[in-house]
Amino acid sequence: MVQNAPHAALFLLVALVAPAASAIPDGLLPNGNFEETPAKSQLNGTRVMGRYAIPHWEISGFVEYIGPGQKQGDMILPVPEGAYAVRLGNEASIRQRLAVTRGARYSVTFSAARTCAQAEELNVTVAPESDILPIQTVYTSSGWDSYSWAFKARHSAVTLIVHNPGVTEDPACGPLLDAFAIKTLHPPALTKDNMLRNGDFEEGPYIFPDVPWWVLVPPLDEDDYSPLSPWMVLSTTKSVKYLDAAHYTVPHGAHAVELLSGVETALVQDVATVVGRPYRLEFSTGDAGDGCAGSLFVRAYAARGSVTVPHESQGKGAHKRGVLDFTAIANRTRVVFVSMAYTMKNDGTLCGPVLDDVSLVGLHSHAARRFLL
Ligand SMILES: *[C@@H]1O[C@H](CO)[C@@H](O)[C@H](O)[C@H]1NC(C)=O
Ligand SMILES: *[C@@H]1O[C@H](CO)[C@@H](O)[C@H](O)[C@H]1NC(C)=O
Ligand SMILES: *[C@@H]1O[C@H](CO)[C@@H](O)[C@H](O)[C@H]1NC(C)=O
Repeated sequence: MVQNAPHAALFLLVALVAPAASAIPDGLLPNGNFEETPAKSQLNGTRVMGRYAIPHWEISGFVEYIGPGQKQGDMILPVPEGAYAVRLGNEASIRQRLAVTRGARYSVTFSAARTCAQAEELNVTVAPESDILPIQTVYTSSGWDSYSWAFKARHSAVTLIVHNPGVTEDPACGPLLDAFAIKTLHPPALTKDNMLRNGDFEEGPYIFPDVPWWVLVPPLDEDDYSPLSPWMVLSTTKSVKYLDAAHYTVPHGAHAVELLSGVETALVQDVATVVGRPYRLEFSTGDAGDGCAGSLFVRAYAARGSVTVPHESQGKGAHKRGVLDFTAIANRTRVVFVSMAYTMKNDGTLCGPVLDDVSLVGLHSHAARRFLL
């Protein structure tokens, strides 16, 4: 017994260290792209029969396993990642248990496409958080969009559930899903020279390194944790697009946001201010070099001030700085950005101005210094 003591101590040490080491790494979830197939005996046509038939996933309800060449009427259903995807019928869901770090924040990225149903929503849950994501608007010509959603881990193991809350006449009509990935979020700290956090949009959801190089950030309730936190996307159904500098013209750093849906969507952040003090809001805007040509307009609001920055876009990537000086009228000031126009690319998909490198500073210190000199 005595001889075993050092081993016991070692075991204890390993056990204490192990939970952190086993938390899920950034990237594709286990079988996140559904390329590990169910056994043939678990399928009836495309319908998945067994609850645990798809490796690493648990299903409930009418779930189909969609392979190459699968048709919907006369149309072949395209699969965005690899050869396989799943489709959730009426009230069906898929879930996966995730090993995470308790207290950490995560964002989940996945691809979704509508098929024949009018149920254009997905219910994404990691208890106790649950949100209905609108997937009504299609932002790509392929029909597949990449969505993000964020949660705070309340336990070291959580269950991600994606559920189709829709009920339609054809039980098979529902959204297609593919390519699930996860990323640990590091909530941005305040810096000395900016009263806004994450002003450069460097902290955000997972973007696949191959395709499509962007991800939608859908609208959420104001008290939910946003993948772009502390920025919030406010809209009834429309998203903003989070872009990667490797494939888009981004004014500063590695990421930016594209405002896609005119005045229907606002990107906002609340900041503590002092009533009566002057502040300066600055930002970069332009086009992402993604063929979004036309007259683009970003409007910024803060307190009683607003400024509109026009950009005649050739769709080749150019940007400029916008400035808004305002005086705070409350303890908290909501900084708001909207796109004032609806623009479409040649392929008929929605696009809009990019926004990046947003900063807010108090002007009182400069004014005071000027008086002293
Ligand atoms: C497979 O599906 C068909 C059509 O829905 C049904 O008639 C049949 O009973 C199913 N077979 C099994 C083994 O469940
Ligand atoms: C969303 O899914 C969760 C978990 O399955 C469920 O508890 C909740 O009732 C669902 N919400 C809606 C509106 O369907
Ligand atoms: C400012 O904050 C204080 C305390 O936090 C509160 O009592 C006061 O009502 C606030 N004033 C305004 C204008 O919001």
